[in-house]
Amino acid sequence: MLFLKEISYQPQTSETKIIDNLNVKVHENEIILICGDSGSGKTTLIEIIAGLINPQKGKICWKNKILSTRQRRWLTGIVFQFPERYFIGTTIGNELKIGHKFLREKNIEIVLNKVGLKNVNLTQPPEQLSGGQQRRLAVAVQLLRNPSILLLDEPTAGLDFSMRNDVKNLILDLKNQNTIIIVTHEPSLFEGIPSRMLILKKGKIYESKS
Ligand SMILES: Nc1ncnc2c1ncn2[C@@H]1O[C@H](COP(=O)(O)OP(=O)(O)OP(=O)(O)O)[C@@H](O)[C@H]1O
Ligand SMILES: [Mg+2]
Repeated sequence: MLFLKEISYQPQTSETKIIDNLNVKVHENEIILICGDSGSGKTTLIEIIAGLINPQKGKICWKNKILSTRQRRWLTGIVFQFPERYFIGTTIGNELKIGHKFLREKNIEIVLNKVGLKNVNLTQPPEQLSGGQQRRLAVAVQLLRNPSILLLDEPTAGLDFSMRNDVKNLILDLKNQNTIIIVTHEPSLFEGIPSRMLILKKGKIYESKS
């Protein structure tokens, strides 16, 4: 279980706390949605979980052990909003291999299979993929790191309807095999997938009743 205990975070440049004594538990292989108004701190929260930001207060535990910042970076895979803007590989194959000294072809095959990019041509540039496929590739890049927790920031942002469905189906495929936290403006799109929907408001998390 991932346990965020009494987390508070206030950047030096902010007059108020963005995250304020927040508590949340996420079970292994659970998929949760985090919703909230623009500016409510959703991205900040997943950056805290990912070890990119350090809160001033609180503990982040995984399987009953407190995690250091470094451990959080290892444990999580974060897919930022509009990940395709940050592809740096000249080919899909390169993009997948970035950061790996040794990577077995078999692992690439397994991950591409998982994200539904089985027959993709690895020698083509990532930009030649469709919008939905590019999001799948960004998830594949993270899955190759074998993260315990996958963090997706607005995975459907800027996609047309069919591509949004593509991303939804990807998440369905990953269900029950991965712990996934999805930040979204479009909770209705993910209907039926997550076990819980949480609302981030004034720095705290609330369970949604709907
Ligand atoms: N380093 C910082 N210094 C000052 N303010 C910050 C900093 N980082 C974030 N904020 C503020 O904290 C609030 C939360 O930002 P965040 O990006 O986490 O919101 P969000 O819920 O992801 O919004 P959106 O839905 O628009 O992506 C915003 O008001 C933002 O301006
Ligand atoms: Mg955001």
